[in-house]
Amino acid sequence: MVSTRRAFLSAAGAAAVAAAAAGTAADRIEAEADTRSRPDGGGVVPFFGRHQAGIATPTQEHLTFVAFDLVSDSRGDLRGLLQAWSAAASNLTRGELVGSVETGTAPPVDTGEAIGLGPARLTVTFGIGPAVFAPQRGFGLSTLRPAALVDLPAFPGVEALQASISGGDLAVQACADDPQVAFHAVHDLIRTAGGVAVPRWLLSGFGRTGNTSDTPTPRNFMGFKDGTNNIPVDDQQALTQFVWIGSEAPAWMQGGSYMVVRRVEMLLGAWDATALNDQERTFGRRKVSGAPLTGVHERDPLRLDARVNGLPVIPGNAHIRLASPTYNDGQQILRRGYSYVDGIDGSAETVAGGLLFICYQRDPRTQFIPIQRRLAAADALNRHILHVGSAIFACPPGAGPGGFVGDALFT
Ligand code: HEM
Repeated sequence: MVSTRRAFLSAAGAAAVAAAAAGTAADRIEAEADTRSRPDGGGVVPFFGRHQAGIATPTQEHLTFVAFDLVSDSRGDLRGLLQAWSAAASNLTRGELVGSVETGTAPPVDTGEAIGLGPARLTVTFGIGPAVFAPQRGFGLSTLRPAALVDLPAFPGVEALQASISGGDLAVQACADDPQVAFHAVHDLIRTAGGVAVPRWLLSGFGRTGNTSDTPTPRNFMGFKDGTNNIPVDDQQALTQFVWIGSEAPAWMQGGSYMVVRRVEMLLGAWDATALNDQERTFGRRKVSGAPLTGVHERDPLRLDARVNGLPVIPGNAHIRLASPTYNDGQQILRRGYSYVDGIDGSAETVAGGLLFICYQRDPRTQFIPIQRRLAAADALNRHILHVGSAIFACPPGAGPGGFVGDALFT
């Protein structure tokens, strides 16, 4: 069975690589870039570069995220998969196919649903989970595990993690301004992985919660602006300080970043029945304007020490107080989450859904973990949410032309 599926991978992967190289007219789709009001002025976000795209890229409107389990223990298979994925992703992000659709009696190599949709600012970001570095796996990578790629600790009180929607050996984060373009990328990359990796969990989302400096801050399902005090993706100094990994890590990770993913269910029935005043005190911000309770405008600075009648204006357990750099040794993270819908909730009173919280950082031991510990201990938001999924991945630096994401692992 495995060998048959491996043979499929070789065939599909090789076909993808060959198609990438050939780039025949029949397989090429014109990039129909929607240049209107796009921050980058065009529809193509380059796949190759110093850093992987999809981290400091201005957030696109849609996400499809998939985590995989490796079903092969062969170093060559892993290398071949990462190589085939990068070749496919470089095509996809240019709005091209991963291989031929017009295959006659054979199944099309590309599934075809993105034909004509253009690149839609697609980014495909790859991550590698901690278990890939375990000595008992056959990849020979145990000495290359970065110390910062830790298994996340438990955060009692705020989580009821489900194994089937947590973890993973490999991750693909596909973001695009068109949901079908994001889905198509994942659809084809799953096919490319056949026999070497199988999908473990998958989630699509919309309503990005990260902000860019020149677009209005989006709102989460609780109705609050989400992303106001995020690291701006054009703030190179902050990215260098908090997001991109430097010389502290093994060479293969320098220029990369660590991704933490948390599937956070919102208990929307109870939230929707909560008084506005309490909702605002939960976050420490006004619902409509997004202003901190100590200000008038969204971007007004937090005044965490402001008091009225001896009481803090931004409550002691407000989300923004506990998550702020002031309470976390000056640390920040780059948030890049998406809202998701998951049917109706158990009581059939309202929708089930929440936030696929995704954040990037230089070291989760000093960034996500302590911030989340502080939130888990006291955040007023805790009674309205439940973390049900969790994963961490090392996202290597970007690939150079001719290279592939993760290639330095195999040198
Ligand atoms: C469903 C879960 C969550 C919701 C609905 C949520 C919502 C919000 C909102 C509305 C803000 C204020 C606006 C802003 O600055 O973006 C905010 C800020 C923030 N959140 Fe969350 N959040 C969630 C989970 C988390 C988690 C798990 C973390 C990290 C462990 C986190 C870290 C932060 C940080 C660092 C800020 C900025 C604080 C500041 O410096 O002002 N959030 N969040």
